[in-house]
Amino acid sequence: MRPRAVAVLASGHGSNLEALVHAQARAPYRVRLVIADRECRALAWARARGLDARLVPPGPHADATQLCAMRDAGVGAVALAGYLRRLSPAFLAGFAGPVLNIHPSLLPSFPGLHAHRQAIAHGVKVTGVTIHFVDEGLDSGPILLQEAVAVREGETPDELLERLHAVEHRLYPQALTIVVEGRYATSGRQVSILPPREE
Ligand code: GRF
Repeated sequence: MRPRAVAVLASGHGSNLEALVHAQARAPYRVRLVIADRECRALAWARARGLDARLVPPGPHADATQLCAMRDAGVGAVALAGYLRRLSPAFLAGFAGPVLNIHPSLLPSFPGLHAHRQAIAHGVKVTGVTIHFVDEGLDSGPILLQEAVAVREGETPDELLERLHAVEHRLYPQALTIVVEGRYATSGRQVSILPPREE
């Protein structure tokens, strides 16, 4: 199968972008486009790597600009990786492929910002990582993959976040692989992962 072009949208550090790019040599996708809504490390890293990296600040034409860039790059799937802006209904209606997001908690617990801090403040013993399809809500779409991470006694938020990131960096390339291979079926909120096709 020819690798499928994907876009990554980011706003911050970009460690998940890096993980997706590093894994792509052994995966059926290629990150052909990076879009950020602000100047950030993720955008600088993508530029330095020679990727098609674009700054699309919020504004009345941001959706159309993003959609145009996706069309030009032949993008079939989108991965949000620390993108701090909600995708508009116009974008979601205009983009035909799947859109994934990664979140550092076991959704539906602790949506929104600083999920790892929320988890520690709440005193949960287990948190984790969720990769889900994006809908118009906040971290609310159907769940594709989850992995649990036990919270350690006395752990700081930064220590927990570092362990969550390690899981994210392993899980996101797997999720994107499943999605570009079309190895999933959805029925309402239920997402089933299908076995790899026989060659
Ligand atoms: C990750 O923890 C991700 O789950 C959340 O934002 C963070 C982004 O980190 N949505 P990075 O920019 O990929 O390093």
